[in-house]
Amino acid sequence: MITEKERAATAAGNHGSPTLDFGRATPYDEYVGTAVLHGLQRTVTDVPEERVFLVTTQVMELYFGLLRAEWRLAQRHLDGDDVTGATATLRRSVCHFEPLNAAWASLGRLTPQRFNLFRDQLGEASGFQSAMYRHVEFLLGNKSEPLTRPHRSVPGAYRELTEALAAPSLYDTALALLARHGYPVPAAVLERDLTAAYRPGAEVEAAWRAVYERGELVELAETLVDVAGRFAEWKHRHLLAVRRSMGAKPGSGGSSGLAWLERSLAREVFPELWTARTAM
Ligand code: HEM
Repeated sequence: MITEKERAATAAGNHGSPTLDFGRATPYDEYVGTAVLHGLQRTVTDVPEERVFLVTTQVMELYFGLLRAEWRLAQRHLDGDDVTGATATLRRSVCHFEPLNAAWASLGRLTPQRFNLFRDQLGEASGFQSAMYRHVEFLLGNKSEPLTRPHRSVPGAYRELTEALAAPSLYDTALALLARHGYPVPAAVLERDLTAAYRPGAEVEAAWRAVYERGELVELAETLVDVAGRFAEWKHRHLLAVRRSMGAKPGSGGSSGLAWLERSLAREVFPELWTARTAM
């Protein structure tokens, strides 16, 4: 903790230069945890591209955690009927996709030959096993009980994930808000089994159309479309990275690879927000 007054006194005493002497680790190192952070790059080969692969994955993992925090906050705003707060939080989360999606560029030139130099050493490790990513998918409404199973032996992560499976997704929370604002969201949708995959329907589509006709919650709706679009971009760029670095070979996580990922990409986030547009 440092006050404005103390900062000014330090700057005056330093005659324009930054502070250079600390009797301990720098405050930056202490705050950021740099020693721990850099110590996490435990590569298993000397292939330079493996380091690129690991750091890119770690950076993305951090962004998944950031998105989860933002979307949970947006849900709290929506539950409290604070549409302005929810929209601002969602808009900020859309900004996080800029660096997250741009991070794919680092893997853009990974050829199959270079990937093969370290791929076997990664064993069965696959991004598919990221509990944080799965949490993000659940928050977006892509619920799936079987996909919680890889995490059963890690109690903390498993508990969080099973709670997220049974909790309303961001979309469910938005639909509940629509209903409170008088839009015709059917009770069967609001009271559905939240652990099951969301099934799109004509009534919810009509409710979104009404939102666009009345104009009141359009900015919220459009920001949700931004979220869905940027997430689809992440998936698409992942798919391209996979196709480019390993073609249609089976995945390290035991799936068919490309074909499995194509099916995952086809699952639409906030589906009626897209289909409603046909009849607008
Ligand atoms: C060139 C590099 C990459 C390749 C070849 C690759 C390959 C694959 C494959 C084949 C799958 C399907 C599951 C399986 O492993 O059988 C998968 C899933 C996945 N990968 Fe990657 N991956 C790469 C980079 C990354 C990076 C950097 C991340 C960041 C965390 C990531 C995150 C994921 C996630 C979250 C899934 C599950 C997707 C879903 O459920 O739809 N991948 N990956």
